[in-house]
Amino acid sequence: MSSNKPRIGLVVSTTRATRFADKPTNWLRAIAEERDDIDVEIVDLRDYPMPFFEEAMSPGYSPSTDPAAQAWAKTMAGLDGYVFITAEYNHSIPAVLKNALDHAYPEYGKKPAAFLGYGGVGGARAVQQLRLILNELQMATLKFAVHINANEMLPLMKNEKGFGDFPYLADAAKLMLDDLVWWARALKQARAA
Ligand SMILES: Cc1cc2nc3c(=O)[nH]c(=O)nc-3n(C[C@H](O)[C@H](O)[C@H](O)COP(=O)(O)O)c2cc1C
Repeated sequence: MSSNKPRIGLVVSTTRATRFADKPTNWLRAIAEERDDIDVEIVDLRDYPMPFFEEAMSPGYSPSTDPAAQAWAKTMAGLDGYVFITAEYNHSIPAVLKNALDHAYPEYGKKPAAFLGYGGVGGARAVQQLRLILNELQMATLKFAVHINANEMLPLMKNEKGFGDFPYLADAAKLMLDDLVWWARALKQARAA
């Protein structure tokens, strides 16, 4: 059934077999799905196994010819806003995420992006770099984010603690989603006008 609610994609940005990404994704998904003001979709890069970008032209000018990249572009086109759930690899974003981002362009335009970063310093360096990249892709990058740092990530990883042990993370997620919904609604209306 179609809905007027903004459709928000939670983009899972790492693909390693033993990735930590699933823990914050499942946690955030549960929080997002409790809300009645958005529809939520998981966008897992594992489901879009595209090759390294080798197209003749930027997708800004011509769509990618790769089927997985086309599927990614279609999914991103159908969403009104994104939360990028990202690790920090060598102080930047995972290469698989950058590659996926390079494989589309108009599909992202004039849509808001928020962030959940994890790593030693909460994925903060990766998130900052991601903001710069998304700005070039004409997304509206938002201030509020969830940052899961080493003090939380390591006990979560080892199943010594759960997200409930760090209640301020849920507070941060609410602030982030509230702001994302505001922007997603406003930009959805503006795109339609
Ligand atoms: C290639 C690589 C580079 C990494 N570089 C960083 C880094 O710069 N900063 C950081 O906080 N953690 C770094 N880490 C540790 C990651 O935070 C940790 O492995 C995390 O679980 C990765 O996310 P994933 O499990 O979803 O792949 C790195 C991990 C990998 C595999």
